[in-house]
Amino acid sequence: MGTITMLSFETESPNKNAAWQGMLLDMNKFRADFPIFAESVNGKPLVYLDSAATTQKPRCVIDRVANFYAAENANIHRGVHRLSMEATEAYEKSRRRIASFLGASDAREIVFVRGTTEGINLIAQTLGRSTLGPGDEILITGLEHHSNIVPWQILCEQTGAVLRVASIDDRGEVIREEYTRLLSEKTKLVALSHVSNALGTINPVREMIAQAHEYNVPVLVDGAQAVPHMAVDVREMDCDFYVFSGHKMFGPTGIGALYGKASWLKELPPYQGGGDMIASVTFDKTIYAEVPAKFEAGTPNISGAIGLGEAIRYLQDAGMDRIAAYERELLEYATSCLMEMNQIRLIGTAQHKASVVSFVVDGVHAHDIGSILDMQGIAIRAGHHCAQPIMDRFGVPATVRASLAFYNTKGEIDALVTGLKKAIEMFG
Ligand code: ALA
Repeated sequence: MGTITMLSFETESPNKNAAWQGMLLDMNKFRADFPIFAESVNGKPLVYLDSAATTQKPRCVIDRVANFYAAENANIHRGVHRLSMEATEAYEKSRRRIASFLGASDAREIVFVRGTTEGINLIAQTLGRSTLGPGDEILITGLEHHSNIVPWQILCEQTGAVLRVASIDDRGEVIREEYTRLLSEKTKLVALSHVSNALGTINPVREMIAQAHEYNVPVLVDGAQAVPHMAVDVREMDCDFYVFSGHKMFGPTGIGALYGKASWLKELPPYQGGGDMIASVTFDKTIYAEVPAKFEAGTPNISGAIGLGEAIRYLQDAGMDRIAAYERELLEYATSCLMEMNQIRLIGTAQHKASVVSFVVDGVHAHDIGSILDMQGIAIRAGHHCAQPIMDRFGVPATVRASLAFYNTKGEIDALVTGLKKAIEMFG
């Protein structure tokens, strides 16, 4: 099967090699912070290449969550007692940390949600439901995963709005002429992934947002696959909304955040009703709380929010630019190794990519590859990656996806290549 040429992979110069060695020394120390890498799987050392599905957790995050339950547990925003006040402060401190991590101007622009999916549903059911009507259009791209497709389809059923999709080309990049053509006076909302979970494509979101703003259209960016890998600045990007999940950035599951420009959040109706999102309640009338409490009905995932704050502290210490540089090198290495294998066809060869190599293997189903690799302790994802339309676009039922994080090493990529060779020998 032929390979598609993509990233330019320069021959390693001595200087580049020295720089890599320096970076290695720097980055390898972080791996020891993740207790799971002391585990073996099927009698083999764990090679974890499934970070796009969920990332592993550093000891500090695990300890922070455990310590909250062991020594600090109380409900927030309600108690006058010491524990409750301290839990409230820890929860709000995480909100401030997220705001600074994303470059938001005010912590009140950060709403805690269960994750990316809930953040997108929140915007669909508040902004979308209150402003869209029959014939209005929502514009997404062919790169989206199900979380950034289905909530908009539900909204279309509810309002009579129409979903438009800017398709992607053979490299897995959004066809910009199509995006430009589909933006119009009818467009009322744009939703874009920052980085594709299935292909790794980095969307040029800043330019795409500027284009949408020419029509005064608000833009939601799905940052689930971006925040673990690169520095993000929502003000520089000028997005109206940005969503991400804690568990994909070394934090706990069941927690994430929605950033929204203050002007939007103030204007939107509440998402869910209940305790903590009210200023006062009578049977005749409820006055809602100010943002962000207006969007956080009920007791939230307190330990999750605090654990997420700790994950962000950890990432800030490691340095997002350093992480991005290290992962770029890893991705180039993985790409070049796979391109040398004749039986492998890369799916997703965009010029700008982050941390994902997706591929099919000539004559072997992705699930069989997954099983053979698993026997060797190697965890990859095989399937449609919650992005069936992307598989349809490339005419494949499934791909094998190796997704990287800054705790991975070139040695693990070598293990993947060896594992793939074994699978091809057995099935090919
Ligand atoms: N969206 C997650 C993935 O890409 C589940 O695997």
